[in-house]
Amino acid sequence: MGTLSSKMRALFYLCFVPCLLLLQEVHAARHGGISLSSQRMALLHWKATLTNPSLQMSSWQKDTSPCNWTGIVCTAVHHGGRVPLVVTDISLPDTGIHGQLGELNFSALPFLTYIDLTNNSLHGALPASISSLTALSVLGLHHNQLIGKIPYEIGGMQSLRLLELSFNKLTGHIPASLGNLTMLNYLVIHQNMVSGPIPEEIGRLVSLRLLQLSNNILRGMIPKTLGNLTNLNTLYLFGNQFSGPIPQELGRLVHLQILQLDSNDFSGPIPISITNLTKMNQLSLSENQINGSIPLELGSLIMLKILFLYSNQITGSIPTELGNLTMLSELFLYRNQITGPIPLELGTLLNLQNLDLSFNKITGSIPQEIGNLINLEYLDLSQNQISGSIPKTFGKLQSIQTIQIYDNKLSGSLPQELGDLTSLVRLALSNNSLSGHLPANICLGGRLQNLHAFSNMLSGPIPRSLKTCTSLVQIDLDSNKLTGDISQHFGAYPQLIWMSVTPG
Ligand SMILES: *[C@@H]1O[C@H](CO)[C@@H](O)[C@H](O)[C@H]1NC(C)=O
Ligand SMILES: *[C@@H]1O[C@H](CO)[C@@H](O)[C@H](O)[C@H]1NC(C)=O
Ligand SMILES: *[C@@H]1O[C@H](CO)[C@@H](O)[C@H](O)[C@H]1NC(C)=O
Ligand SMILES: *[C@@H]1O[C@H](CO)[C@@H](O)[C@H](O)[C@H]1NC(C)=O
Ligand SMILES: *[C@@H]1O[C@H](CO)[C@@H](O)[C@H](O)[C@H]1NC(C)=O
Ligand SMILES: *[C@@H]1O[C@H](CO)[C@@H](O)[C@H](O)[C@H]1NC(C)=O
Ligand SMILES: *[C@@H]1O[C@H](CO)[C@@H](O)[C@H](O)[C@H]1NC(C)=O
Ligand SMILES: *[C@@H]1O[C@H](CO)[C@@H](O)[C@H](O)[C@H]1NC(C)=O
Ligand SMILES: *[C@@H]1O[C@H](CO)[C@@H](O)[C@H](O)[C@H]1NC(C)=O
Repeated sequence: MGTLSSKMRALFYLCFVPCLLLLQEVHAARHGGISLSSQRMALLHWKATLTNPSLQMSSWQKDTSPCNWTGIVCTAVHHGGRVPLVVTDISLPDTGIHGQLGELNFSALPFLTYIDLTNNSLHGALPASISSLTALSVLGLHHNQLIGKIPYEIGGMQSLRLLELSFNKLTGHIPASLGNLTMLNYLVIHQNMVSGPIPEEIGRLVSLRLLQLSNNILRGMIPKTLGNLTNLNTLYLFGNQFSGPIPQELGRLVHLQILQLDSNDFSGPIPISITNLTKMNQLSLSENQINGSIPLELGSLIMLKILFLYSNQITGSIPTELGNLTMLSELFLYRNQITGPIPLELGTLLNLQNLDLSFNKITGSIPQEIGNLINLEYLDLSQNQISGSIPKTFGKLQSIQTIQIYDNKLSGSLPQELGDLTSLVRLALSNNSLSGHLPANICLGGRLQNLHAFSNMLSGPIPRSLKTCTSLVQIDLDSNKLTGDISQHFGAYPQLIWMSVTPG
């Protein structure tokens, strides 16, 4: 939200000249009779209704000009032969104002172009009377306690470029009249309790760059008209109850960089059309009911850094073309029904930090090319049907902190090279058919906290390096064929909460 504040400021300056022209031509004429003193009266009246006027408002005094007050900006407008000052800005974010917006007499402040009252304690409704501010360009009210509906009348605020209402308690439907605000660049209603469908009129907001309706209780299908918002670069609809297919019209949003539709009830396949959106940086469709396979054309989204498809019903195999996504740092495909092998091409994703393919039906062996991922911190391949042995190249994963490969069909002897992984915190190998010795230097980095290797065929001694491994929190080596005197090879572990080394 911090970046939005700077966007608000930038928009204010962008709007400065055109808004002044608007003021001059329309408002000065229409409201020519409104003096600075009636604007002052409206502001002082509002201050008097606040249960907790902020410290910053102490300069708001009867016998001074509002243009000298903290949080108020005046601008000179041409009117006839005169150039009177009028109040154009109210900017008091983060100031602890406690009161109602409805107590502010907006019809006495027709020249306002900028309101930033974000992060205060404004309660009560967003008043319909605010729609008289036809010159208002920026309305920032996020992080307050506004309740009730977004008034239908807001559709009359024809100069609005930014409407930021996130983190309030707004309810009711999104009014179709918002579709009249064709100057809007940012429409942000994140984290409220707004319900019902997205009106198809939202597709008329062709200047929109950011549309964020996430974390509400919106439902229904995404209207196809959103495909008309061709200037959009960010679309956040996550955390709602949207259903039906992801409309293929979204493939027309050629400037889209971030698409987050996760945690909804979308079904059907990943539309091929979105593989045309080559500026895409973050694509998150996780926690839906998406089925079908991962389109190999996804490999053309070469700017992708984040690809989240987890917790869906995706079938088919992982396309080798994902190996073309060399910017990728997060690849989460877990909890699907993916079959087939891990493509060795994933070994070209040198920026990868987190790779989670767990809870699928992946077969074949782990490609030794995975060892090329020197930036990998988290690797989870657990709960699959992966066979073969653990490649010795794992010893090159110098950044790795977590390796989870439990519940597979891995066999062969455990590579001693795992002892080279000095960043290792968590190693979970349980429930495979691994043999050989535990690496002698298993705790070389001194960071190992969790070692789970139960239900394997490990043999030989418990490594001495565990005796001085004071970072240990959980260790489970049950059901193996380990030998040696346990009392001799285990030391004192200040963090330990669980230890089990019953031989199998
Ligand atoms: C603002 O206050 C200063 C003194 O602090 C005064 O000189 C100036 O005239 C005031 N401006 C207006 C517009 O009242
Ligand atoms: C809101 O303002 C308070 C100060 O009044 C500040 O401490 C807090 O970080 C702000 N919160 C947000 C989300 O900006
Ligand atoms: C609001 O301001 C307008 C214009 O100054 C005035 O005509 C009207 O009476 C005011 N309303 C209230 C409720 O004070
Ligand atoms: C705005 O949009 C609604 C519905 O789309 C329409 O009925 C109305 O006349 C429009 N005009 C204004 C000023 O809200
Ligand atoms: C917007 O999209 C809809 C559905 O995709 C289409 O029928 C309509 O013609 C489009 N409107 C404009 C103004 O482009
Ligand atoms: C991708 O874009 C091209 C040209 O912009 C267009 O011809 C094609 O139909 C699009 N493909 C899909 C699947 O939308
Ligand atoms: C995907 O789910 C839909 C129902 O939502 C079903 O009609 C369709 O056959 C499924 N497709 C695949 C490939 O499983
Ligand atoms: C993407 O990957 C595939 C298979 O790995 C390869 O054949 C193709 O040439 C690649 N495409 C591009 C554009 O790099
Ligand atoms: C071990 O794996 C088998 C199948 O591979 C599974 O049925 C079983 O529940 C797993 N046991 C544990 C303790 O995870």
